[in-house]
Amino acid sequence: GAPVMADIGKVESGQMVTFEWRGQPVWVVNRSKEQLAALASQDPRLKDPKSDNTEQQPDYAKNEYRSIKPEWLVLVGLCTHLGCVPDYFPELKPEPFDPAWKGGFYCPCHKSRYDMAGRVYDGVPAPANLRVPPYHFVSDTLIQIG
Ligand code: FES
Repeated sequence: GAPVMADIGKVESGQMVTFEWRGQPVWVVNRSKEQLAALASQDPRLKDPKSDNTEQQPDYAKNEYRSIKPEWLVLVGLCTHLGCVPDYFPELKPEPFDPAWKGGFYCPCHKSRYDMAGRVYDGVPAPANLRVPPYHFVSDTLIQIG
């Protein structure tokens, strides 16, 4: 499939936008400082905190943010359990969930949760972190996906 150009010039802090690449939803999130600061606190509850499963992201996204630039998160928006599309929960403490979960993505099909780096949170069926597609920055406001 052809690459997709994602114009991120108007995406506000904390906002997620969805693009389509190879028939799949790809999310781009402009993570806020608070969302980034909360990531480390989630590590003890994650199945794969260091993203050691190398199939789930390119090498340039194998870091604590799972991204090229810390604020810009790029993910394939399909649950790694059975492929449903999770919902975005940007709130830091969404009720009625476990208050230790600082928000991220919640799959309505079987209740998998992911943090704001797409890392799978414990006690849920999803086997792996959400996938980071291949991408690069064409400019400060344009990301090429694929
Ligand atoms: Fe998402 Fe099952 S498809 S939890």
